[in-house]
Amino acid sequence: MEELVSRIKKDGLVLNQDVLKVDSFLTHQVDANLMAAIGGVFADAFKGQQITKVVTIEASGITPAIFTAQKLQVPMIYARKAKSLTMNEELLTAEVYSFTKQVTSTVSISKKFLNETDKVLIIDDFLANGQAAKGLIELCQQAGAEVVGIGIVIEKSFQGGRQLIEDMGLPVVSLARISGFKDGTVEFLEGDA
Ligand code: G4P
Repeated sequence: MEELVSRIKKDGLVLNQDVLKVDSFLTHQVDANLMAAIGGVFADAFKGQQITKVVTIEASGITPAIFTAQKLQVPMIYARKAKSLTMNEELLTAEVYSFTKQVTSTVSISKKFLNETDKVLIIDDFLANGQAAKGLIELCQQAGAEVVGIGIVIEKSFQGGRQLIEDMGLPVVSLARISGFKDGTVEFLEGDA
């Protein structure tokens, strides 16, 4: 997605050899027009696949996911990392290990929002090692829902996430694919959409 790649070139900051800071338009301050365009591209990429729910994980997956859900006219569900006060019903849960942060967290979705009739599109902001996506896939599997595909805003192709998900037989659509960081600049592969 050319608009996204240009924005990363303009406003992305390479923090170290494997972390990109995009807090001015994606992970903290959010460019709503860019997110709306991203939602349109994901909706187009998966149109005709009878998606019934968009699933993501808090926090930064929520904005691209909500615009995708709006375009597809289906609900968006975000997995929670902490149990909410009102979440007193039965839960689907999965453990997510972050290689970056070296912590394991339990993520959950209420059982009442996903079932075996659902066809799910998973959306997330970053794909690094794929552990968050794997956890979301597990939640869908527990519900008996079918995962149709994974939409990623920024894929770090030099990490193992894409391979992990493709090995599960699931298609990945990444709007920006980063092959690496060289001398403080971002190098890209051809994106999927
Ligand atoms: P993984 O899920 O693909 O295995 O990723 P990993 O454990 O490596 O990443 C942990 C967190 O860091 C995730 O957010 C992920 O989105 C984010 N992340 C990974 N690589 C980058 C990067 O290069 N830049 C930025 N800005 N973020 C990155 P999180 O902490 O779980 O959630 P959130 O609350 O920040 O959305």
